[in-house]
Amino acid sequence: MKRTHHCGELRTEDIGATVVLNGWIDSVRDHGGVLFVDLRDREGITQVVFNPNTTDALSEVLHHLKPESVIAISGEVTARENDAVNSGLPTGEVEVHAQQFEMLNVSDTPPFPIDDEKGDRVNEDLRLTYRYLDLRRPKNLKTLKNRHKVSKTTRDYLDEQGFLEIETPMLFKSTPEGAREYLVPSRVNPGEFYALAQSPQQYKQMLMVAGIERYFQLARCFRDEDGRADRQPEFTQVDLEMSFIDREDMYALIEGLMERLWKEILDVAIETPFERMPYEDAMNNFGSDRPDRRFGLKFHDLNDLFAESDFKVFNSVIKSGGTVKAINAKGLADITEGELKYLTDMAVSMGAKGLAFIRARDGGEWKSPILKFFSDEEKAALKGRLEIGGGDIVFFMAAEWERSCSILGKVRLECAELLKKRGRLEIDPNQWDFFWVIEFPLMVYDDEEGRYVSAHHPFTSPVVEDIQFLDEDPKKVRGQHYDLVLNGMELGGGSIRIHQPELQQKVFEEVLQLPKEIIQDRFGYMVNAFRYGAPPHGGIALGLDRIVGLLSGAHSIRDVIAFPKTQKGQDLMSQSPGPVTERQLRDLHIESIVVDKK
Ligand code: AMO
Ligand code: AMP
Repeated sequence: MKRTHHCGELRTEDIGATVVLNGWIDSVRDHGGVLFVDLRDREGITQVVFNPNTTDALSEVLHHLKPESVIAISGEVTARENDAVNSGLPTGEVEVHAQQFEMLNVSDTPPFPIDDEKGDRVNEDLRLTYRYLDLRRPKNLKTLKNRHKVSKTTRDYLDEQGFLEIETPMLFKSTPEGAREYLVPSRVNPGEFYALAQSPQQYKQMLMVAGIERYFQLARCFRDEDGRADRQPEFTQVDLEMSFIDREDMYALIEGLMERLWKEILDVAIETPFERMPYEDAMNNFGSDRPDRRFGLKFHDLNDLFAESDFKVFNSVIKSGGTVKAINAKGLADITEGELKYLTDMAVSMGAKGLAFIRARDGGEWKSPILKFFSDEEKAALKGRLEIGGGDIVFFMAAEWERSCSILGKVRLECAELLKKRGRLEIDPNQWDFFWVIEFPLMVYDDEEGRYVSAHHPFTSPVVEDIQFLDEDPKKVRGQHYDLVLNGMELGGGSIRIHQPELQQKVFEEVLQLPKEIIQDRFGYMVNAFRYGAPPHGGIALGLDRIVGLLSGAHSIRDVIAFPKTQKGQDLMSQSPGPVTERQLRDLHIESIVVDKK
């Protein structure tokens, strides 16, 4: 019984044909001895009719038609009666009258229904434990197909653009200045470790020195970070690098790729070129380097208004060089005490001294513990500038610039969630707000380390006209770094790189203040390689999982990875990670002492 058609294929043109279908039993309905079976495979569902009068040897086995069992049938395609047509199914005008039947494998009763809607209500841990059943649900199959299409379209596009797909090692060496790494002990080099690659960054730059000119890879990357909706410990990047290009070439290349993907997967024409937003504007207006602009709640700068105010909390911050910003959460005056406390606690945990607010009652009357500090002129100016009306609540943040922006940025996102919960804010799921964030600072000061650290990574080239400030005022130097943002998510990031050995050495040594031995040990080969004719080059890496997630309307990238890890980094199906034997450890020259098992 070799299959002739898949279960999504038969149409009225096939009526009269004898076909063989293979698949899983989705459901069985018994209509007085005549059985209607929905047979499912990867491509769809076909109704199969088992009639004691027409089906051969329809003996005992038919009484054991359990859902999720695998069967093969052969029979004739017939038209369904008019009132039995199912317009919701592509095969809904026909059915197959089974003549022969073979049970290929009987299934136990599955632990949850293989159904899009019912399955969504099942606890995720249970679904991940039986991920092979979860993946049978049509929506999950569709997502995996989307993922395949994204990979294929990306490969085709980059191939057309002259890129070579090259694999780079996953067993790399430890480079501790990035994310936390997974270490792999070396059996043949006692006491030494590989690290699983966080990204192919250094190898791809070496490929440019090697003269490859255009490289790409759908690269698996490993980072030992806490799991989140948009983060997995192992994930996939569309990673690429090009020689003899500038930032404009990169923007055009990636915009073309996004256009192609959105057309191919969703049949949507997105608008290009994408807008470019300097980092400073992103922070000033939205308090994030990857702002979601699909709802308003834009910041207002109030420094001019409160510089001479009687309210010490505000004017002292301004006098010491900080910033006072506010947002008007329109229609959120009915925020509960619990929600308000949550917002305040969040702000304080991020380093705020407090979260001042003014609530405007429906009648227009204002309520606030800080109102008494404001003059009538200040109140009038606030009302005009923030367009405060009845039912609004305004939140204020006074702190040093970056902190003030980023804390209010989080408050902004939470306010949007609260408004959504109340049905007062709706985001069109078909809106695609792509843009580039550019002109990031090259370096940021790390209070903990007491030195500058790279905002992106130490290979990013400074903006040429800013190189002069590297010595006296590194924080003034902008990097040739770009991030691609879509609907509040960072889809990718990259930069034009340093290719001059002297400049690279200077950044390591004088700006990042790394000790000479560490530079030599970790990056010596790179600086050395740059002495042998390194071309100017730059690249980018896009989060493939995030792209597929957005294209599939997924809530988490866990939904678009065949076998994802939980937030605790576990694969519940295969039960990894797990213990190993003493013998294995000995072979690796390792002793295991669990210091702090939580
Ligand atoms: P970066 O660290 O910004 O850059 O990573 C690039 C993109 O990879 C995705 N990403 C992740 N996706 C899922 N889970 C994670 N844990 C995770 N971490 C990152 C994001 C991100 O934008 N080598 C540089 C790129 C370059 O300079 O060319 C790099 O890795 O979408
Ligand atoms: P205080 O006078 O310190 O009691 O503060 C009055 C109000 O302002 C309280 O609601 C505080 O939460 C809030 N507040 C204090 N400091 C700040 C700040 N730096 N930014 C925003 N609000 C603040």
